[in-house]
Amino acid sequence: MLTATEIQEKVNAYIASLPYERRPKSLYDPIEYVLAAGGKRIRPSFVLMAYNLFHDDVDRILPVATALETYHNYTLLHDDLMDKADMRRGRPTVHKKWDDNTAILSGDTMLVLAYEHLAKCDTKYLKPALDLFTETALEVSEGQQFDMEFETRNDVAEEEYIEMIRLKTSVLLACALKMGAVVAGASDADANALYAFGEKVGLAFQLQDDLLDVYGDPKVFGKAIGGDITSNKKTFMLINAFNRADAGTRAELERWTTATEFDPAEKIAAVTEIYNRLGIDKLAEQRIKEYFEQSRQHLDELSVSDDRKAVLREYTERMMNRKK
Ligand code: IPE
Ligand code: IPE
Ligand code: MG
Ligand code: MG
Ligand code: MG
Repeated sequence: MLTATEIQEKVNAYIASLPYERRPKSLYDPIEYVLAAGGKRIRPSFVLMAYNLFHDDVDRILPVATALETYHNYTLLHDDLMDKADMRRGRPTVHKKWDDNTAILSGDTMLVLAYEHLAKCDTKYLKPALDLFTETALEVSEGQQFDMEFETRNDVAEEEYIEMIRLKTSVLLACALKMGAVVAGASDADANALYAFGEKVGLAFQLQDDLLDVYGDPKVFGKAIGGDITSNKKTFMLINAFNRADAGTRAELERWTTATEFDPAEKIAAVTEIYNRLGIDKLAEQRIKEYFEQSRQHLDELSVSDDRKAVLREYTERMMNRKK
């Protein structure tokens, strides 16, 4: 069994060794830039950790793990364009450093490269691996579309938000874990338990991301703070602020979320102050804890020994205390 650190080192070394020989450089430089920028490498680590529950020769599936990280980074290029986000991992985003068209085309190319990496998997598992990946990628797009549509709606229910984050974020984490099981030839029961585990961890993870978007330290988080507030993202926090607000506070929230001209810093400060007043941060923390606890049950269902599960157990526990 490898430790989480050993797994991350393997992922980083493999990604750093990828060749960039094709031309034009202007298409591939942004790809190299974003993949070299680090990030937590959660999805490829999940692939290897899940595989490692069943087999020791994890090097074989580094291309599969890289497929998921490449796909994830493709979604980030387009997400940052859609969210008008200028910073990621403490560096300018691709559309900022280059331009919008570069983020679109280099992003599209990464989606294709992800399939190229995935196709290196053992032919015995290629069909189920491709099916899982394709279904997941469709769901991520669906989640991202809901996320965008919710910006201009003011009646988004909490259940709709949860389903939206399940699609945009959870299913990829779940897919990473299940993928590791699939290419390990694990039983359907184990593969599905890992998927369910990833789904619950993913909900907690995206709630945490939304919380850090308001309360994080930009130097550690690597992204600008308050972007979700300025773009009226219907996060768990904004939805619950509306639910908890009295008439006066509701009017204040409505004024901020419908304003077409505003000073971003002023809007972020005002909405954050409302969250503080209503205890929305505590509410979100509590919900994160609930999803995390629900995830544990699916780890228990896995038919492997407890000590083999320790890496995933501890890694996901640390994920919940992340500041970046
Ligand atoms: C960012 O994912 C997008 C979300 C789903 C919140 P990560 O927080 O895993 O980003 P990196 O890869 O570590 O930068
Ligand atoms: C991102 O959600 C989900 C995907 C990229 C699919 P966010 O928009 O909250 O992610 P960040 O905060 O920009 O990383
Ligand atoms: Mg974003
Ligand atoms: Mg987004
Ligand atoms: Mg976010």
